[in-house]
Amino acid sequence: MPVPDKLVIHGGRRLTGDVRIGGGKNTSLPVLSAALLCDEPVRIENLPDINDIRVLIEILRGLGVRITRDGDDAVVDPTRLTGTSPRPDLCQKFRASYYLLGALLGKVGEGTVSYPGGCDFGARPIDQHVKGFRGLSAEVEEHADFVTARAKALQGAEIYFDLVTVGGTINVMLAACRASGNTILHNAAKEPHIVDTANFLNSMGAHIRGAGTNMIRIRGVERLHGCTYSVIPDQIQTGTMMIAAAATQGDVCIHGCIPAHMESLSAKLLEIGVRVDDQDDVIRVRSLGGHRAVNVKTQVYPGFPTDLQQPMSSLLTTAAGTSIVTETIFDQRFKHLEQMIRMGVRANVQGRVATIEGVPGLIGAPVVASDLRAGAALVIAGLMAQGNTEIENVDMIDRGYERIDDRLRALGADIRRT
Ligand code: EPU
Repeated sequence: MPVPDKLVIHGGRRLTGDVRIGGGKNTSLPVLSAALLCDEPVRIENLPDINDIRVLIEILRGLGVRITRDGDDAVVDPTRLTGTSPRPDLCQKFRASYYLLGALLGKVGEGTVSYPGGCDFGARPIDQHVKGFRGLSAEVEEHADFVTARAKALQGAEIYFDLVTVGGTINVMLAACRASGNTILHNAAKEPHIVDTANFLNSMGAHIRGAGTNMIRIRGVERLHGCTYSVIPDQIQTGTMMIAAAATQGDVCIHGCIPAHMESLSAKLLEIGVRVDDQDDVIRVRSLGGHRAVNVKTQVYPGFPTDLQQPMSSLLTTAAGTSIVTETIFDQRFKHLEQMIRMGVRANVQGRVATIEGVPGLIGAPVVASDLRAGAALVIAGLMAQGNTEIENVDMIDRGYERIDDRLRALGADIRRT
């Protein structure tokens, strides 16, 4: 049995210098799934080299999709699909495998996909995805371990989501772009990944309007043609690097990002006392310490992203005063704080609210990454702490961050993978 990787961080160093951000995880996953819908090969550029993408590529290959990877780019040829049931063990490894249901339904009118895995934040139902598919006239059967969706002919429809869901909005959009007639998605999510997936589908000849607003209009088309498409940079990796720079009282320029996607975070960092400047696709984050406590409440886009709540709470652990962090999207997204108590953090979690009392400094300790962003939060805490922090379960971090140790080392961090 191979020994799992650990990250060992000797904290207390300022991060300085330049870092470049790769393609977005939560964009690449739907874009790669959406490529299934095409009737010709497509070229997708700027795909991150992360575990979730590797697993999705393996699943697609198992369905007969030919994929040639060349660095950050891939040519995806979905013209000889041989299956409609992706491997359950692989689907259970990550959340975004649910996109295969919408894509298969749109492409061949049927799919059987096991319930997705991914980070454990309490219950993560997919009832709104199912509601949307049923709205498009698909028959959906929900079994204990998997879901089957079938449609002789998908019909466009008006669909009202009962809550704002990123995955549900994209999944129904995937199926609807090959349905006959018009679909309107009401109460749609507005995250940048939704706009990017819609842009990709439109580059293949789909007719989607309004992505990025809460009403998306889709006119179904019969065919989708090949294209070349470059995935947008990762909003959450950008934010993680911004927070890491601030937390280490560093001075870091983050290149190749989209500053407009970072406004809620930049505003919070300014409130804390961190300097943030941007120009074109570069954000510079500078801090001299003296951070102030702030309150953070996660919201759907353009609000403060839940995926940055965990890294942000690391920064708040040493900010002067009491910070209240309220998680409105998921039930249990504070597991990182339990780990950080070992590092001297003073935090109290009551349901979806965490109260963090700033302490003068953190102390390195052995900790475990319970989920992807908890892992990122622990890395940041390790960079802030005096002494050694050993992080176990690094696979979780590798699901969504490409070579996080190399990138941080290039900025001056003392971090190694053992
Ligand atoms: N929800 C339902 N029913 C549904 C769908 C969602 O009740 O059918 C609930 C969820 O339980 C949650 C809320 O609605 O309470 C929002 O869930 P959403 O569907 O928006 O999230 P998701 O599609 O499961 C994606 C990202 C997450 C990110 C959230 C919110 C991917 C693969 N995952 O998850 O990313 O936190 O949107 O922005 O895109 C991460 O990257 O670390 C990550 C967890």
